[in-house]
Amino acid sequence: MTSSAKKNESLTSVHLFSIVSTPFLITHAFSNSSCGGGAMAREKFDITNMKLEDHNHQEFIEYQGDDLFEVKNYFWEYLEDAISKKYYIYGNPLTTAPVPEVKAYDRYTDSVRHYLNFSSYNYLGYSVHPEVIEEVQKTLAKYGTGAVSAPLFSGYYDMTRTLEEAIADFKKKEAALVFPTGYSANLGVLSCLLKPGDVAVLDILSHASIYDGARLAGADIKIFHHNSPRHLERVLKGLKTKRVIVCVEGVYSMDGDLADLPRIVDICRKYGAKILLDEAHATLIFGENGRGVAEHFGVEDDIDITIGTFSKAFGAMGGFVAADRKLIRFLRVSARSYIFSCAMAPHTAAGILKILALYANDKSRRIRLWENTHYMHQALTDAGMDIGETKSQVIPVMVGAEMRLWEIGRRIYEKGLLTGVVTYPAVSTKRTRLRLSVCADHTKENMDACVAILKEAFDEVPV
Ligand SMILES: Cc1ncc(COP(=O)(O)O)c(C=O)c1O
Repeated sequence: MTSSAKKNESLTSVHLFSIVSTPFLITHAFSNSSCGGGAMAREKFDITNMKLEDHNHQEFIEYQGDDLFEVKNYFWEYLEDAISKKYYIYGNPLTTAPVPEVKAYDRYTDSVRHYLNFSSYNYLGYSVHPEVIEEVQKTLAKYGTGAVSAPLFSGYYDMTRTLEEAIADFKKKEAALVFPTGYSANLGVLSCLLKPGDVAVLDILSHASIYDGARLAGADIKIFHHNSPRHLERVLKGLKTKRVIVCVEGVYSMDGDLADLPRIVDICRKYGAKILLDEAHATLIFGENGRGVAEHFGVEDDIDITIGTFSKAFGAMGGFVAADRKLIRFLRVSARSYIFSCAMAPHTAAGILKILALYANDKSRRIRLWENTHYMHQALTDAGMDIGETKSQVIPVMVGAEMRLWEIGRRIYEKGLLTGVVTYPAVSTKRTRLRLSVCADHTKENMDACVAILKEAFDEVPV
């Protein structure tokens, strides 16, 4: 094993990923040993035995054949086997808007079917709000379909600037910078600020974009046990440098639990570490004014850098960073995922501005979301499901081993339910789960039907 492989292995088996509103589920990262030069060469696969039950995705990610593309042949056979068993249920195109009941193409019946949708991040239903659509259409007619330039040239529009000001205002920070995606916001900020020898201290369940940003910077990555201030303190105590940033998420995207911010913030202050907080799934949902989990716990002033995304409760696309004015100015001309990528489309910015205005005047969607969230927590628990430590609209339903996930995933899909069906690289193959996204627009009937389907499938496939 190479020394870098050994080093990465010692980082523990992280799975870091997140899925969701991506076209299929996988969003987060991978195990550290699979990335950044730490991959281990392994013996050749046997092309005559690429059965699903004998392999897992991680093996293909880590495989180093003689030829760079060799892996594709093995992976092809593996996936064909999954398809023949109807286990591969990812990437089926929706043919309607991402609302609680959708239509989507089903490769197994070669038809468009009706599904109950618990897998979109359209938590507050803003992606289909008539006033938002009208605003987007108006802007689209005036500005055209895209920004068609990088932001430092002509990709920056009046509404992008207005959106940055509005986000800074909303987040109670001095300034904000809008990125094309949430992924590129984390990537750009961390890779810009950290240098080799600096330390990124990450909760083990951090999103892939956080890992990838730190990795791209060449920083040392230290991991602390999920949401454990005690372990965080142990890690910080052992560091020799002051150039340290601790990264946590307000709501963890695969588990739905909340960062223990009050204690984490105290420890970071004690050791002089900076804090980056990713509020991707918390913005518009937590805190009296919807600013996120930092507002919920009353620690906003202690957060150095806030990250957010417009792809969840905003129902749009894009990401942002909010921080002090001087830092934002530096990032604007230095964060490479910002300066070397086409800017957010003006109509997207206009739609998000409209959502901020609607949200400021009417919190009824959020109230409905919380009613639904509490209802689902209770209903799933009453049905005997293990929903982990979730405190939010992100609800994992724990499954366990991967083969059970495939069986349950196939069944719920056939019964007409869409959820995240989550395994590596989002989570470890031993902690697989279904991941439900509860939305304000789900009716009681939708939720009851979802729980009934889950219960049936789980009963059909006992542990
Ligand atoms: C915690 C977290 N951060 C960042 C992102 C990336 O956001 P986006 O999908 O807008 O790129 C996600 C997306 O799932 C996420 O869950």
